[in-house]
Amino acid sequence: MKVLILGATGNLGIRLIPALLSRNLSVIAFVRSSSKLSSLLPPAIFKQITVVEGDAKYVDSVKSAIVDHDCDAVVNTAGVAALMPWNSSDLPEIVGTVVKAAKEVHQLRQKPLRVWILGGMGLMDVPGTNSMFFRFVPIFHEHLKDLALLKTIPSTVIRWSILCPSRMIPRSTEFVVPVKDSPSGGLAASATVPPHWQDFWFRRIPFVGSFFVVLANASRYNTALEDNAAFIADDLVMGSDEFVCEKVGVWDPAQGKV
Ligand SMILES: NC(=O)c1ccc[n+]([C@@H]2O[C@H](COP(=O)([O-])OP(=O)(O)OC[C@H]3O[C@@H](n4cnc5c(N)ncnc54)[C@H](OP(=O)(O)O)[C@@H]3O)[C@@H](O)[C@H]2O)c1
Repeated sequence: MKVLILGATGNLGIRLIPALLSRNLSVIAFVRSSSKLSSLLPPAIFKQITVVEGDAKYVDSVKSAIVDHDCDAVVNTAGVAALMPWNSSDLPEIVGTVVKAAKEVHQLRQKPLRVWILGGMGLMDVPGTNSMFFRFVPIFHEHLKDLALLKTIPSTVIRWSILCPSRMIPRSTEFVVPVKDSPSGGLAASATVPPHWQDFWFRRIPFVGSFFVVLANASRYNTALEDNAAFIADDLVMGSDEFVCEKVGVWDPAQGKV
């Protein structure tokens, strides 16, 4: 399987490279600067991948990278959502570009691509309410636009998933193949609502109870970047339908205990 990583010089993108190579997948790294990528990776890893220079805001560049390298899957880690609701970033444009390129590839191949997009925990539904996390913690709102766009795309056109982690933390800045982590990375995952959500007695306090439950849960969902990379890589290897056209929350049993 050939996987295009957009944003391979970023925190998650760079960790996806060893995660995918360790599972015998081929990596095509789409970056703005090949020299930046080579400065971040050990030469032994850099020589195992194909590098494409380009801007993820150009549909033709992304589409050519997919078609020219016969990619089966795309993982978009390029762009970072703006923190506050009054700020904006390139992320919605980048996700729009990836979606458009994947739709054009579908027209060409008559077969849907597997695509993982990065979202944030704000997209997950809060159990026991009819609201997303965003309603309680209104940051990184641009992921809402990305989800709204993805929801218009059927799985027959793009087999998309949007990963919705909370804060992702590096475990190491050394990259080796094969990776030393456990084969699955160890994360629990679920669609729509975060896995292992914890309820508290104070949810019953009128008006503010749910808000305090969200706050009490928020720090329980930090995960390691390496584990998220392993999770995506495993999903691609398995080729499962479980998370297709879903927003996906992750939880680390080692960090998530209160
Ligand atoms: N880190 C977290 O804790 C966290 C938590 C939840 C969700 N997320 C989401 O996960 C995604 C990845 O996060 P991250 O921490 O890995 O981000 P990051 O380290 O800031 O990496 C972003 C990457 O995007 C690339 N990029 C930006 N604009 C581009 C463009 N026009 N064309 C091509 N590449 C472009 C950057 O390339 P250059 O090196 O050229 O600048 C960089 O490689 C983001 O969308 C973020 O919102 C992150």
